[in-house]
Amino acid sequence: MLASLLLLVPLAGAVVIGSRANTPPCPGYKASNIQETDHAVTADLTLAGTPCNTYGKDLQNLKLLVEYQTDERLHVKIYDAEECVYQVPEKVLPRVADSDGSRKDSALKFEYQAVPFSFTVKRKDEVLFNSSASNLIFQSQYLKLRTWLPDHPHLYGLGEHTDALHLPTTNYTRTFWNRDSYGIPENSNLYGTHPVYYDHRSQSGTHGVFLLNSNGMDVRIDKTENGKHYLEYNTLGGIFDFYFFTGSNPKEASIEYAKIVGLPAMQSYWTFGFHQCRYGYRDVYQVAEVVYNYSKADIPLETMWTDIDYMDRRRVFTLDPDRFPLKKMRELVDYLHDHDQHYIVMVDPAVSVSDNGAFNRGSAKGVFLKNQNGSLYKGAVWPGVTAYPDWFHPDVQDYWNDEFNAFFHAETGVDIDGLWIDMNEAANFCSYPCTDPEKYASQNNLPPAPPPVRPSNPRPLPDFPADFQPFAKRIYQAKHGLEGRNLINPPYTIRNGAGSLSNKTINTDIVHAGEGYVEYDTHNLYGTMMSASSREAMQHRRPDVRPLVITRSTYAGAGREVGHWLGDNFSKWSHYRISIAEALAFASMFQVPMVGSDVCGFGGNTTEELCARWASLGAFFPFYRNHNELGSISQEFYIWPSVQESARKAIDIRYRLLDYIYTLFHRQTQTGEPFLQPMFYLYPEDTNTFTIDLQFFYGDAILVSPVTSQGRTSVDAYFPDDIFYDWYTGIPVRGQGANITLRDLDITDIPLHIRGGTIIPIRSSSAMTTTELREESFQLIVAPGLDGTASGSLYLDDGESLQQEATLEVQFEYRNGILRVDGKFQRHINVLESVTLLGPGKHRRSREEGAKKTIPTNLELSKPTEIKLE
Ligand code: NOJ
Repeated sequence: MLASLLLLVPLAGAVVIGSRANTPPCPGYKASNIQETDHAVTADLTLAGTPCNTYGKDLQNLKLLVEYQTDERLHVKIYDAEECVYQVPEKVLPRVADSDGSRKDSALKFEYQAVPFSFTVKRKDEVLFNSSASNLIFQSQYLKLRTWLPDHPHLYGLGEHTDALHLPTTNYTRTFWNRDSYGIPENSNLYGTHPVYYDHRSQSGTHGVFLLNSNGMDVRIDKTENGKHYLEYNTLGGIFDFYFFTGSNPKEASIEYAKIVGLPAMQSYWTFGFHQCRYGYRDVYQVAEVVYNYSKADIPLETMWTDIDYMDRRRVFTLDPDRFPLKKMRELVDYLHDHDQHYIVMVDPAVSVSDNGAFNRGSAKGVFLKNQNGSLYKGAVWPGVTAYPDWFHPDVQDYWNDEFNAFFHAETGVDIDGLWIDMNEAANFCSYPCTDPEKYASQNNLPPAPPPVRPSNPRPLPDFPADFQPFAKRIYQAKHGLEGRNLINPPYTIRNGAGSLSNKTINTDIVHAGEGYVEYDTHNLYGTMMSASSREAMQHRRPDVRPLVITRSTYAGAGREVGHWLGDNFSKWSHYRISIAEALAFASMFQVPMVGSDVCGFGGNTTEELCARWASLGAFFPFYRNHNELGSISQEFYIWPSVQESARKAIDIRYRLLDYIYTLFHRQTQTGEPFLQPMFYLYPEDTNTFTIDLQFFYGDAILVSPVTSQGRTSVDAYFPDDIFYDWYTGIPVRGQGANITLRDLDITDIPLHIRGGTIIPIRSSSAMTTTELREESFQLIVAPGLDGTASGSLYLDDGESLQQEATLEVQFEYRNGILRVDGKFQRHINVLESVTLLGPGKHRRSREEGAKKTIPTNLELSKPTEIKLE
């Protein structure tokens, strides 16, 4: 009995893979022909014994390439000697140029063991990564590498997920396989893939590890029976393409990551206004009513959105002629534009397979995905049976540009200001193998009947020609990737929440046009490729302005082109809470700073209290949009008086702070320095902050501490050892590295504190639109730190052009009672009305009246200036 039990227990050191505990240990690789220079290491890696062929064939010959790219970045690439294995295309993630870093100067050092091959990455003498935790496996459909972690590791990243910001360190699996994940389940794969983790060590710094691989993957974090923590990659293909990067703190590490995946796109000023959306507006009149109701309720509405409801039978690039007729749509858009407001609609990737312009034109160009036999690949999404654009097709960009130019034409179409793209994981309602999408669509009522037309009599809809067969067959050969793989059911199974790889998405054996990549390898890129094509199409229409594209599905580097909303959450408190960790990870760790959740919750019915709280929390996310599901009760902010008040108060603060956030957002697009930050980003040595994900910093200066549970009127907020000032009263709060209970917070209140040491530019009052807001004068808030000094900055430009001609970029410095303003003044601040100094008299006063001192200035800031404050 004991003997048989022992057989089930993995022996220490033996390599046990996935669920196949009985397979022989894999031999690992042997390094030879090792060439080392001060800049690089190369070696041949040869299988060190009998292949174990557990999940496909072991590759005999690999290569190692190590580059000291910069002093903070090390590139370690392990790839097949033949270079047949799929690698993430440059088109999707352009590689950083290899600069001339050297081992001598690098903060990171690469060391290896030749037999069995393993490597370590060290920062001084501290081991950051050590792959000797198991033998390397590199098979045709499975790659495995395990690294040891420190005891009690502080790990973050590996999104998209709805688990805690500070990742669990035992029995935890993160799966990367983008999927339509209604209800954003915990501990599951969601819409996006960002295979980067950050390991924060309070004594020595923060480093990140990015695995540039787009294949389906399980990353396992756990500990051995001996209590040693490890992190293990289990990947369905691709290569090991690691980027190790380091900073002395988490902020610096995030900046290093931006150097690898690219700096995020700058957004127009108006995009930071408040957005209203919902699925289920029955017609253009109802959309117009919502615009009207916001204005009647005195709640600033910057941008109105329309979901798939506007489409004719849910077909992209069409208008429902009865509910959303072009004439009325153009009137609506004109009305919005005349009132300095904006309009956004949704576009899905899936195109209805029927006699309609978008399908016919796409078919004629041959840009839709095809099965291996050359027939059209069909799924079922909102409009019923659908075809999917192949973003690798050489003509797909022309197709997409033409559709956008025609449908969204400024003079003849729907003149949108921004774009919302959805369902691009890509989603397919019909389960694999989806042999009869027509049957699926008819049995599942796709598309459903639209709501009745007001006042009566819906127009009859035309039939499709019976013999509709519009395009010529063309077969693409898989050119990239190893031959002989099982692309539908690979032998190793990742923990995909949707089951098999092709379930509820595009079949993974599909071969893309162009280079011949297979969907098996590139599935996780679909949304990001659609994002890039859509951004380009938007730019084609309006070449000079920054295009706003909000996408659901993302891959590493997506922030270069688009923003992201956090998908289909529910109207529940746990989703209100988790939105903070999700937004923080996207904005600071994945470099997708234009991010926000569906405020008040998407699925299910919200409550007045939840919606009131969310209206104020959402105002402190970069992207601020109320969105709701078809069938749920209405949740526009004007529905309840308390929500109105909460929204008005929060928008008032958000708008007054808009230039502060625009400045810091702009900084992130230039340097990668994140502006929406977890608490430990600003207090990296305070171990108490490491797990905090219900409070956060909005920019460097504002600590947001929302109430996070139902029925509560207080919040236990953590204040690090530092000086803070209450946003509303200016009263100093001396943080002691402990919680302080903030009380008497009604459902319209959100606690905000200004961090000492900062200077914040604000507008002197808020406005109904961001265009009006830009006419307001400025004020400055000076919040001295414990050392009595403070600093801040302000960036102004024309608010929308891709190329700026005249900007204002000034720095504010406060010390010894003097405020100095210096920088570049190509534009200038119309009027700096006043400066408010917090904590005058070295914080001796704690009563409200003594907490701040306002000095009228009435200055035009067009040159360096000094202002005496004390
Ligand atoms: C799914 C999206 O996540 C949701 O926001 C949208 O309302 C529906 N699709 C309908 O388009």
